Amino acid sequence: MNAVEAVEVTKKYKRSLSFAISNISLNIKSGRIFTLLGRNGAGKTTFVRICATQLLPTSGTITIFNHDLIRDTEKIRNYISIVPQEGRPLRALTPWDHVYYWLRIRGMDKVEAAKRTKKILLDFELYDVRNKLAMYLSGGMKQKILVAMAMATDSKLLFLDEPTIGLDPVSRRQIWKAIKEKKESGTTIMLTTHYMDEAEILSDDIVIIDKGIVVEQGTLSDIRKNIKENIKIEISKSGMDVETLKSYGSVVDTGADTLRLFTFESNIQELSGIAIKRNLFFKVSPITLDDVFVSLVGTEPNNSDSD
Ligand SMILES: Nc1ncnc2c1ncn2[C@@H]1O[C@H](COP(=O)(O)OP(=O)(O)OP(=O)(O)O)[C@@H](O)[C@H]1O
Ligand SMILES: [Mg+2]
Repeated sequence: MNAVEAVEVTKKYKRSLSFAISNISLNIKSGRIFTLLGRNGAGKTTFVRICATQLLPTSGTITIFNHDLIRDTEKIRNYISIVPQEGRPLRALTPWDHVYYWLRIRGMDKVEAAKRTKKILLDFELYDVRNKLAMYLSGGMKQKILVAMAMATDSKLLFLDEPTIGLDPVSRRQIWKAIKEKKESGTTIMLTTHYMDEAEILSDDIVIIDKGIVVEQGTLSDIRKNIKENIKIEISKSGMDVETLKSYGSVVDTGADTLRLFTFESNIQELSGIAIKRNLFFKVSPITLDDVFVSLVGTEPNNSDSD
């Protein structure tokens, strides 16, 4: 079963000249982690907010667990929770109250709500500060409250719009673990992130959007196949002729001091020989989602004219 079916969804904001998203069609299979990737302004939050019933599309249809988004909005809201991109907890409420009362509002009984609240606050290292007002907590702790609220529910579908933004590396891993546990219990997750390592660790399926249009979609391994070569070499720009490099594979200039060459293992020896002779920086590594992302959407300036 599909958790989400979107057909030709478009959104044009009031007073905006162009479409924030255009003709987005995609399916999200139930029980999977689906990640939406794209540069700033690509339209991820717009799409997430539409699916989460917070924003109306300009045209197109969406069904969530076979319910029409517009006709059955109230029913759909019982199935979903969202961590909004720019959400803030209430200043005068504690972490405990945020999670506990959120669960109670959604109909959970007192004992279960208290049990869940304790578990998620322990998992996210918020238990020690459970009775402190949010206004006295750090930025990362506030972010974790929002994630905890959504993750403690029984929602069948979670929308996580950059859930780990601003979190330290240990906290990010706590969230990843909770996301994986949710998936194991059958929850469907729609995720957006700018952290490619996070996308790589969590995603089953990926859609890349650019300027409101889907440019690539598939499973994580499908998306990786976008680069046909199987190895990445980073090599100093200075002292290396781009044309020579191009004869070994595809070259991407990311603007850094090094060039990225996507090539095959069979070329490593020859190229490292050149690099050693010329005393150049030389590094071989596997191709990552980050490489695919940059090669698909990172080659042009991201000038938006939507206002
Ligand atoms: N409330 C709004 N009114 C007018 N235009 C908007 C509004 N919200 C977003 N936009 C425009 O819609 C486009 C998509 O924005 P959106 O927030 O969906 O991007 P995003 O992919 O989530 O970006 P980011 O990675 O920075 O969060 C942008 O051009 C943005 O300027
Ligand atoms: Mg966004």
